[in-house]
Amino acid sequence: MAYSGPFQPGDRVQLTDAKRRHFTLILQPGAKFHSHKGIVEHDQIIGMDEGSVVRSTLGADYLLFRHLMVDHVLSMPRGAAVIYPKDSAQIILEGDIFPGARVLEAGAGSGALSMSLLRAIGENGQLISYEIRQDHLDYAMSNVDEFFGGRPATWDPRLGDLTQVTVEDLGGPVDRVVLDMLEPWECLPVVRDVLIPGGVFMTYVATVPQLMKVMEGIRELQCFTEPKAWESLVREWKVEGLATRPEHRMNAHTAFLIWARRLADGVTPPRPQRRARK
Ligand SMILES: C[S@@+](CC[C@H](N)C(=O)[O-])C[C@H]1O[C@@H](n2cnc3c(N)ncnc32)[C@H](O)[C@@H]1O
Repeated sequence: MAYSGPFQPGDRVQLTDAKRRHFTLILQPGAKFHSHKGIVEHDQIIGMDEGSVVRSTLGADYLLFRHLMVDHVLSMPRGAAVIYPKDSAQIILEGDIFPGARVLEAGAGSGALSMSLLRAIGENGQLISYEIRQDHLDYAMSNVDEFFGGRPATWDPRLGDLTQVTVEDLGGPVDRVVLDMLEPWECLPVVRDVLIPGGVFMTYVATVPQLMKVMEGIRELQCFTEPKAWESLVREWKVEGLATRPEHRMNAHTAFLIWARRLADGVTPPRPQRRARK
């Protein structure tokens, strides 16, 4: 699948009509897109630039763009709830997912986060994604394969319980670990054992009791920095002259993010000193 340039066979294209309705098709020479507004031949689209308009046999105009990763994540079939783009973006940057990184992820769920991680690690990284449920792993694999137009060579999706995984199973330690599951505190000993000194660990949890349990679990192991926790709130704005204001509706809560770094073995970090009260 191409990411830029004129449309080619195999591209996933989003057609947007005058009512801002979206239709998605995969370009195949000779195929046709039918609607009550007439027919668009795929061959009309192949060779056009993105951002062009194509006209159906009944005179309806459609704006053409390739599917972006966010479009795919929000529209793809899912077995488990996905991590939304606003949180994936935080994980990629705060989790310092770098080109060439070895990253361990669990659970793979629907594969939404896997896609962002795969992009960030580039061609020389490795992403190992554990998923305990076969049906969820099937969703993850089909969503990822569909987006990338085949299985990325850098991806190793595995059926299994992360609590049972050893550093040998992974072929050595990893640079980053990202967890999104109901009980991530059960995986903390594995994270301790597989993460390199200085490695970044991030967890995504939906509720306050989960947040507290993970934070306490990280502190108890005494091999991580003091964890930090936050949430990201995104509020869209309507910008139309004097009516410019925040949108009435927003996603008020998705989940909390937790972050910590692995210490070198046997290290006791200096205790943060608080200023004495006057
Ligand atoms: C919310 S989903 C993950 C969604 C995924 N991050 C995404 O963006 O599509 C949580 C997944 O963790 C899996 N899971 C729970 N415990 C697990 C474990 N110990 N090892 C591996 N996977 C686990 C569940 O089966 C579920 O599919």
